[in-house]
Amino acid sequence: MANYDIGFDLGTTSIIIYVVGKGIVVKEPSVIAVNQKTGEVLAIGEKAQEMAGKTPAHIVAKRPLENGVISDIDMTEEVVKYFIRKVSSSYVVKPKVAICVPSSVTNVESRAAVNAALSAGARKIFLVEEPIAAALGSGIDISKPRGRMVVDVGGGTADIAVISLNDVVLSTSVKCAGTQFDEKIINYVRLNRKVLIGERTAERVKKEIGAVMEGVLPETEMEVKGRSLETGLPVKITVSSSELTATLNEFAMSMVTTIKGILEKTPPELVGDIWEDGIMLTGGGSLIKGLPELISKETGVRCYVSETPIDCVAIGTGMALDLMEDGYSINYDRDY
Ligand SMILES: Nc1ncnc2c1ncn2[C@@H]1O[C@H](COP(=O)(O)OP(=O)(O)OP(=O)(O)O)[C@@H](O)[C@H]1O
Ligand SMILES: [Mg+2]
Repeated sequence: MANYDIGFDLGTTSIIIYVVGKGIVVKEPSVIAVNQKTGEVLAIGEKAQEMAGKTPAHIVAKRPLENGVISDIDMTEEVVKYFIRKVSSSYVVKPKVAICVPSSVTNVESRAAVNAALSAGARKIFLVEEPIAAALGSGIDISKPRGRMVVDVGGGTADIAVISLNDVVLSTSVKCAGTQFDEKIINYVRLNRKVLIGERTAERVKKEIGAVMEGVLPETEMEVKGRSLETGLPVKITVSSSELTATLNEFAMSMVTTIKGILEKTPPELVGDIWEDGIMLTGGGSLIKGLPELISKETGVRCYVSETPIDCVAIGTGMALDLMEDGYSINYDRDY
């Protein structure tokens, strides 16, 4: 039986697993449902997501990772174990696993993920930094002495990194990503329309009619349901794309400012490379309309979205295992 390698993207919003040579085998929400009275784990992933908000009060659906950090180590371990067991159950041999954790996760927390993978039966385990994985999985050759900039806009954070020679030269992260855009939409509708809408509704609004720059989307309207803050009763209102743009634009500017800050700190030779090659956006959050256009306009550097924005981190994490075989050392002793 052949060996097999797994690339595991442990994201704030979703867990994506790539088996080298086979493709994406898991794509599920990072959610876990727990009975708070007994501490028992009832469901993980899609099944847990379905339970959210529809169960008795003592059964809660939690996200073990929030804002790009591990908020609950025990739950994270459960999630890692569950998915590695799920994937490896169809193989006889133990897998070699590379895990990508959000860049702001500490070493102690990373070790929890590593230990969980080992106890789930991993033969060997490595940690991979998210920007490296995002670049590799998007087909960028990072082995050259050439500066490349990757901005990964996930659910919890936007991670901005300059990479050269298989390593991160400098990086930072800002809490401006998918979930916060949803929150901005909820706040806007609450303050301006006096209606409370749910997180899933806000996410749908963002995906369908949300834009961070004027003129990138034809004027569109969308009907949404929520609860009136005046009567307390259910209501249906119409939200238009243009009324949201100013709020979303203002928030996206915090990401732009952080990108500019990194460009200012980047050594001149590498900045020249970035100027020639452009800035690559990855992550589901990068799909909000107008983001590449806004970053290009504000920085003067061409900006484009990866061809596989959501899957590239899992794919690149799996690909990184090959690099490590060649002596490239990314392991869990590395300081982040
Ligand atoms: N078409 C779309 N338009 C706008 N946003 C989108 C779209 N598709 C997905 N998203 C958003 O992408 C976010 C999730 O992105 P992704 O799966 O890259 O996050 P993650 O890797 O789990 O998070 P992180 O990297 O921060 O840990 C969600 O907020 C989701 O709403
Ligand atoms: Mg991610």
